[in-house]
Amino acid sequence: MSPHQCLIVFSLCFLLLPYRLVLAGDYLNSAHGNSSYGVKRSSTSSLGYAQGNCAHCHEQHASIGGDEPVPAGGEASDYLLFNTNHTSQTENFCFDCHQSGGYQTGGISVNKSYSYNFGGRTAGGSYDSTIEDSFSHAEEMTGSSHYLPDFVTQVLGKSMKNADGVTWSLPADINPCNACHNPHLAQRNANSPYDATKSAISRPSDHNNRWGDDASERMNAAYSDYVSPYWWGSTTHEPANSITSDGSNLPNYVRLCTDCHNEYNTINSTNPRLPGSPRAIRKLSWKTAAVGVIPDGHGELDGATIVYARAPYTNGSNMTLCCTDCHEPHGSNNNIVLLRSSVNTSTVSVPNESDAAWSSLCFSACHSRASHSSNKANCRHCHYHGGGHGGF
Ligand code: HEC
Ligand code: HEC
Ligand code: HEC
Ligand code: HEC
Ligand code: HEC
Ligand code: HEC
Repeated sequence: MSPHQCLIVFSLCFLLLPYRLVLAGDYLNSAHGNSSYGVKRSSTSSLGYAQGNCAHCHEQHASIGGDEPVPAGGEASDYLLFNTNHTSQTENFCFDCHQSGGYQTGGISVNKSYSYNFGGRTAGGSYDSTIEDSFSHAEEMTGSSHYLPDFVTQVLGKSMKNADGVTWSLPADINPCNACHNPHLAQRNANSPYDATKSAISRPSDHNNRWGDDASERMNAAYSDYVSPYWWGSTTHEPANSITSDGSNLPNYVRLCTDCHNEYNTINSTNPRLPGSPRAIRKLSWKTAAVGVIPDGHGELDGATIVYARAPYTNGSNMTLCCTDCHEPHGSNNNIVLLRSSVNTSTVSVPNESDAAWSSLCFSACHSRASHSSNKANCRHCHYHGGGHGGF
């Protein structure tokens, strides 16, 4: 056992009680702590640990009662987890359960793409059925995914700034998934009926709180001009397939994403699917003014009115969009920038950067056409986050 692991055994034993007191309520309300659908690893459950018990993820001394429950892997891992916390894009502690046929007894029910859960697009091939698949697009499957090795080198343990320029940082050795989630707090909002108070995410700048569970953390609280896209095949709205369209039931994902993607942070990507990789991710601003970056027209910058708009964006005024109106948070079967497989009841197919591909997003989903002809080289020459010519 390494000194580091010793230290953690020591602190776990001593901290367990106070930690439980602090966390008990929050953890028991979390998806993992839930006594009917929470964590239940087959091997630990056969040893008698109840569903939701910490022991389904944490193992003291890497063994329980003299034997190491499956998966056996030598010494205790960091944080006394039953497996190494993070290895690569496709090998991660979380995938031990969040895949098809993992260690969770009976598998996991709610694990699909954003477009499926919160956009209603359920056609086969249009979505990922596990979280592991969503992240496999960067390497093993066509499509694109957030690249976890870069979270480790560019975000964790670094001094980062949020969109207001306020500094935050996360420990260097935590799981890259936990830049956006807290496994002790995350709840299950997706299962019908959708419940916005049960948010699954935590902002990296505020790791010990869930984000979006309070009314003040929703899209409408930040942007009075937000209108959520239509649910697939209907005129009800995301994310709940209901008539609520003002974002009052949608976590303010802009605030989550712009903790990292803003005008301040330099993020160098080695993502194999990023066009031009390796390179720095472009900086962007969703505000009305920013230093060094041109604020985005799809953000809060209110320019002219929307031209050639499709419903529900036809009331003539400008609107602020949410990042997840266009992007998947984990990954997508579109090869370019995690673009959703469907947006606002339209199929989006962006296998490459051809004009036809971009048009399937811009024209099918939200604009019926543009005031210029569409064959001026690549749309992305002029339209990109932070771009000046026509903005984005
Ligand atoms: C021992 C198995 C197990 C491990 C390991 C595990 N999870 Fe889960 N997770 C679950 C189960 C079971 C649920 C509840 C699933 C359901 O609702 O069907 C869940 C739910 C969640 C949710 C809430 C949304 C939802 O789908 O219900 C999030 C977020 C989440 N897990 C993230 C993580 C992250 C991040 C990690 C790694 C740090 C992780 N999980 C590791 C079993 C696991
Ligand atoms: C960049 C931020 C980010 C990262 C990194 C991230 N997630 Fe998520 N995750 C999200 C968002 C946003 C959602 C959708 C929000 C929701 O469910 O309310 C989500 C949803 C989920 C859900 C619920 C899925 C469902 O069916 O509703 C699970 C489970 C989950 N993530 C697990 C993981 C795991 C495991 C990893 C690492 C392999 C990971 N996440 C990495 C942002 C992130
Ligand atoms: C914790 C920091 C963090 C947060 C929060 C975050 N990202 Fe990222 N993002 C990164 C890093 C690091 C990269 C570079 C690695 C890569 O290319 O995936 C990246 C890259 C990207 C890319 C380019 C990937 C590609 O293949 O072209 C997109 C698109 C993106 N993020 C969208 C989002 C969206 C949308 C959200 C909110 C749901 C978000 N990000 C939240 C850290 C973050
Ligand atoms: C779904 C798996 C999972 C469950 C269940 C779980 N944890 Fe954790 N825990 C983790 C992970 C992963 C880490 C490592 C930190 C990281 O990667 O974010 C961690 C870290 C910790 C830490 C180190 C401090 C910290 O917050 O980072 C303590 C203490 C801890 N867990 C206690 C508990 C207790 C007590 C329970 C039950 C009440 C519990 N955990 C249930 C996954 C889990
Ligand atoms: C040479 C630069 C350039 C290229 C290439 C370009 N655009 Fe534009 N685009 C603009 C400018 C400038 C505006 C703003 C026009 C205005 O406000 O009158 C604009 C506006 C738009 C609008 C808003 C509606 C409107 O007509 O004002 C849409 C939609 C649009 N473009 C889509 C596309 C698509 C799709 C492509 C690729 C097929 C593309 N553009 C390629 C420069 C460009
Ligand atoms: C209207 C749809 C739309 C919305 C809304 C949107 N994006 Fe994008 N995003 C795109 C498109 C199209 C691209 C590819 C062109 C480009 O690079 O800007 C892209 C590219 C990106 C990239 C990769 C940039 C690079 O260096 O290649 C990141 C990161 C990103 N978006 C993050 C975000 C975040 C964060 C938000 C919310 C604040 C957001 N996006 C909102 C459509 C959208």
